[in-house]
Amino acid sequence: MELALGHNWYGMMSPRFTALITTVDKDGTPNAAPHSFVMPFSHEPPVACFSVIPSHHTLANVRETGEFVINVAPEPILRQMLICSRHYPKGVNEIKEAGLTKRKSKLVKPPSIEECVLWIECRYILEVAFPTEISDHNMIFGRVVRAECKDEFVTKDEFDALKAKPILHNRWGREAFIIAERVVGRPKGEFREVK
Ligand SMILES: Cc1cc2nc3c(=O)[nH]c(=O)nc-3n(C[C@H](O)[C@H](O)[C@H](O)COP(=O)(O)O)c2cc1C
Repeated sequence: MELALGHNWYGMMSPRFTALITTVDKDGTPNAAPHSFVMPFSHEPPVACFSVIPSHHTLANVRETGEFVINVAPEPILRQMLICSRHYPKGVNEIKEAGLTKRKSKLVKPPSIEECVLWIECRYILEVAFPTEISDHNMIFGRVVRAECKDEFVTKDEFDALKAKPILHNRWGREAFIIAERVVGRPKGEFREVK
């Protein structure tokens, strides 16, 4: 089946992990918005990036104050996460509107969200902006300065995804969310390139 490259073509690249990105404006008012165009970019030094529509408050805040937190959202807060995707006027504290709880970040100004499973604190490195005929999103890169996961979701130094239930965004067809129910270990054997 060939799909038309309509608005939701990117649904073919599903599911994707979903984060609430928190920022603050220059007056210190927090903002939270769900993002699923998010990815790790560099191992060492640690860099993460996400893609954002230029008119969004998240981008305005990153430009104003230069920091953000990637909060990985779990199934129990799916509704609250969607409330944060509403287009509120600038200056509205979406964490409060959604009934979520602010948690002080350790190294950056934007608060984290208590109900999330892990928190990645970042400082702005670079924005890549494109003419609209090239892209309708800009790319923000941030140096990861701190990363913390809730202790209850770490079992023997491993992330327990079955317990944490991170939300995966599925945009192919009707919008849906996928929660993992099974973990498949890496098969034993030699998979490196044969020269
Ligand atoms: C599951 C989900 C994922 C989303 N992913 C993105 C994304 O990666 N980039 C983006 O710009 N908007 C994304 N959005 C839309 C924004 O969250 C939404 O437009 C929000 O109101 C922007 O808020 P802000 O203006 O406070 O930044 C997503 C929405 C949902 C529900």
